[in-house]
Amino acid sequence: MGAEAQGRRAAPGAAAVRREAGLGYIELNGKRKAMTSVEELEAKYMINTYNRQQDRTPVLVRGVGCRVWDDRGREYLDFVGGLAVNLLGHCHPRVVEAIRRQAGELLHASNLYYTRPQAELAQVLVEHSAAGRAFFANSGAEANEAAIKLARKYHHPRRYKIITAQRSFHGRTLATVTATGQPKYQQGFAPLPEGFLHACFNDLASFEQLVDGETAAIMIEPVQGEGGVHVAAPSFIRGLRELCDRSGALLIFDEVQCGLGRTGKLWAYEHWGVSPDILTAAKGLGGGLPIGAMLARSEVAAAFKPGDHASTFGGNPVASQAALAVLEVLLEDSFLEEVRQKGGLFMAGLQRLASLFPALVKEARGLGFMAALELHEPLAGAVQQRCQDRGLLVNAIGDHILRFLPPLIAGEAELEQALAILEEVLSGQV
Ligand SMILES: Cc1ncc(COP(=O)(O)O)c(C=O)c1O
Repeated sequence: MGAEAQGRRAAPGAAAVRREAGLGYIELNGKRKAMTSVEELEAKYMINTYNRQQDRTPVLVRGVGCRVWDDRGREYLDFVGGLAVNLLGHCHPRVVEAIRRQAGELLHASNLYYTRPQAELAQVLVEHSAAGRAFFANSGAEANEAAIKLARKYHHPRRYKIITAQRSFHGRTLATVTATGQPKYQQGFAPLPEGFLHACFNDLASFEQLVDGETAAIMIEPVQGEGGVHVAAPSFIRGLRELCDRSGALLIFDEVQCGLGRTGKLWAYEHWGVSPDILTAAKGLGGGLPIGAMLARSEVAAAFKPGDHASTFGGNPVASQAALAVLEVLLEDSFLEEVRQKGGLFMAGLQRLASLFPALVKEARGLGFMAALELHEPLAGAVQQRCQDRGLLVNAIGDHILRFLPPLIAGEAELEQALAILEEVLSGQV
C-alpha cells in the first residue's frame, strides 16, 4: 500500500475536485487534469461493494424536499428516501440551519467532554420513548452492536444467547451480520461470533422453542425492512413481551428503519402498546448525518459502566443538533397524524394496483410510509428501472419485492404521482 500510495498518489491532500460549466477537472499539484466520469473514478478507485451500474445508476447532485436531480439535470421523485434516512426529505431547511449553526461553533469535541447538543438529544429521545437512558453511535449496526453488548453485559456471565428472526436485518458488523437472519449476508465471513439463533418471524412458538436459561435477549424489527417489509402481528409482538418477562430475557426492538415516525407513530412499537427493554434507532435520526442511538430502560442501562462501551464520534455535536431539529419537526402537533393519514392513502393506492394487476402483483403491504409490493415474477429490478426512466426512484429488494420509503413530508400530490408512474409501468406489463 505504501509504495503504491507514494508512486501514484503524489498529490498531498488528493484532489480538489471542482466543476465548471458542467465539465469537471481535478487539481493535482496545481495542475489541471480533465476529470474522468464519476463512474470511471469509482470503478478505478473504490472497493466494489455496491451494485451500481455505469449505464443505469444516476449521479445525484442535488436534493430539495421529495425530489433529487442528477448531473444531467434530470429530476426524480425520491421514494427511496436515502433508504429511510431522508425522513424530512432532502435538505430540510430546519435541519440545514441547525447543522450550519453548530458547524460554526463546535464541530467535534470527543466524548471525554460534555457537549450540550448530545445531552439534550438524550433528553428528547428518553422523554419520548419507554427508555431511561441513551447511548450514541454513528449507524444502525453500531447501535445494534451496543444493544447486543448491553444485553450480554446485563446478564453476564449466565446468559449470552441472542435470538433474532429469520429474514431480519441488523447490520454488517460481525455481530450484527450474525444476528441478521439472512444467510446470504454471512457467507464468506466464518467463523461468526457464537450465541446467535434464528426463529421464524410472526411465529411465537418458534421463539419459545429456542428460549432457555442462557437466552440474554430476543431482538426483532417490529416491521422488517430489508427482509421485505413484513409487519409484526399484534399477538406475536405481545407474545414476545410475555415470553421475555417469563424467561428473564431482554426484549430488543431494532427500529433503525421503522422508527422515528416512519410508520406513523414515533416508534413502531407504539402501534402494539408493547415496550422493549432496549431500543435502537439510526437512519433518519440525523436528517442525513450519521448518528445512531441505543436507548435502554435505566435498570438495564446501568449494566454499562464507564469504559464498557464507547464511540469516538457518537453523539457528535453537529449530528446531535441535526437530530434535535429532526425530532422537533416529527413531534410537532399533527405531523405524525398526517403521516398515518397519508400512509393510509398510499397503501390504499398500492392495494388498488394489486387488484388491478393480479397477474403481476402478489401482495401490497406495509405500515405508514414503509410499504412494499411483492411480485409473482422476478421483475422487481425491471420495475425499478422503468420507474426510474419515468422519474421515480423506488428500491427493488431482491427479485420480487419493491420497497417504498417516501419522505414523511410527501404530500398527496407526490403520492399520487408515484402511484400513477407505477400504474403506467405495471400496465405496460413491465
Ligand atoms: C433494521 C435495520 N437495522 C440495522 C441496519 C443497519 O444500519 P446501518 O446501515 O446504518 O449500519 C439497517 C440498515 O438497513 C436496518 O434496516
